[in-house]
Amino acid sequence: MPFVDVRSQYAEVRGTLDPWVSEILETGAYVLGKHNRALEEEVARWHGVRHGIAVNSGTDALRIMLDAAGVGQGDEVITTAFTFVASVEVILQAGARPVFVDIEAAGFMLDPSLVERAITERTKAIMPVHLFGQLADVEALVQTAQSHNLLLLEDAAQAIDSSHNGVFAGNFGAAAGLSFYVTKNLGAAGDAGMILTNDDEIAEKSRSMRVHGMGRERYYYDYVGYTSRMDELQAAVLRAKLARLREWNARRAELAAIYTEELQGTPVRTPQVLPGNNHTWHQYSVVAPKRDELQAFLKENGVDSMVYYPVPLHFHKPYRHLAAGPGSLPVTEEIAASILSLPVHPHLSDDQVRYAAGKVREFYGA
Ligand SMILES: Cc1ncc(COP(=O)(O)O)c(C=O)c1O
Repeated sequence: MPFVDVRSQYAEVRGTLDPWVSEILETGAYVLGKHNRALEEEVARWHGVRHGIAVNSGTDALRIMLDAAGVGQGDEVITTAFTFVASVEVILQAGARPVFVDIEAAGFMLDPSLVERAITERTKAIMPVHLFGQLADVEALVQTAQSHNLLLLEDAAQAIDSSHNGVFAGNFGAAAGLSFYVTKNLGAAGDAGMILTNDDEIAEKSRSMRVHGMGRERYYYDYVGYTSRMDELQAAVLRAKLARLREWNARRAELAAIYTEELQGTPVRTPQVLPGNNHTWHQYSVVAPKRDELQAFLKENGVDSMVYYPVPLHFHKPYRHLAAGPGSLPVTEEIAASILSLPVHPHLSDDQVRYAAGKVREFYGA
């Protein structure tokens, strides 16, 4: 029971995709072509934002978003240590300092009640990470950001199509970054990402920064930028898959519901959907006692699972100086020691999910 299944995705879209790929290769329009423009428009429209700026990874989307929003040297950005490393490395690369705040135990995301006391005169932005397919407590975070005149920047790498009371990522703050890495709900055949924003200036600066900071005139530069164009082939892959995304996410939700039902009465804590959220089930992550033994038992029984994230970022060498050490982020540390993501991709059958849940029950003798 594989954790992801990109071959089945391709089988569903190849009728649309193969002719596009041939056309791109034949015409030689390899970068920033018509599929790029169409993808930007389609994803922006989907999320109800004014601008989508296609770039070549989720990491670059965050990096360019920070630059374009004016986060830089000497600034502090309040964020979480329970995330993929990219969320934090980009803040340091921008010359700013990540300030870690602990997570809440329900959705494993930035705890808004702790954000306020982490604000200093250097704080420039709050950057929640929308983890596993649902949004962090955006209502509280928007309120805190507004009352302190701070930027809210969303790491929405795992949250395409996720919404809160019908409002999608990209609308809560100045900008959001999406990832289209292979394993995401909408995954490219390699690396790709996108910045979403309603801010015309951030959009224009991001567009410039992805091509070395070039201005409207070719070979005239307004900023120190990056080389971060999205390949046209990736844009074509993403457009073909985008047409299937709503259905695939609906299927993920069905499978998540099966897990939640089948895991009742076991010692694992099933995932909670925060109030008002539409969860897109990028991961189905349970909090499991004896997690490592459970994972080994599942493996022996043919069920792949993953630990996102086994070691909080403030325990890693390049990031240790950002926190006071073990015990400084207690919920983060506790969740990292007990979280386990079970396979939930849309090409699993109901029976496969029942089998996996049955093996969890068997492990606990439940
Ligand atoms: C929370 C989070 N932020 C940032 C990223 C970076 O995205 P990418 O891998 O596309 O560079 C990822 C993806 O892996 C992620 O999960």
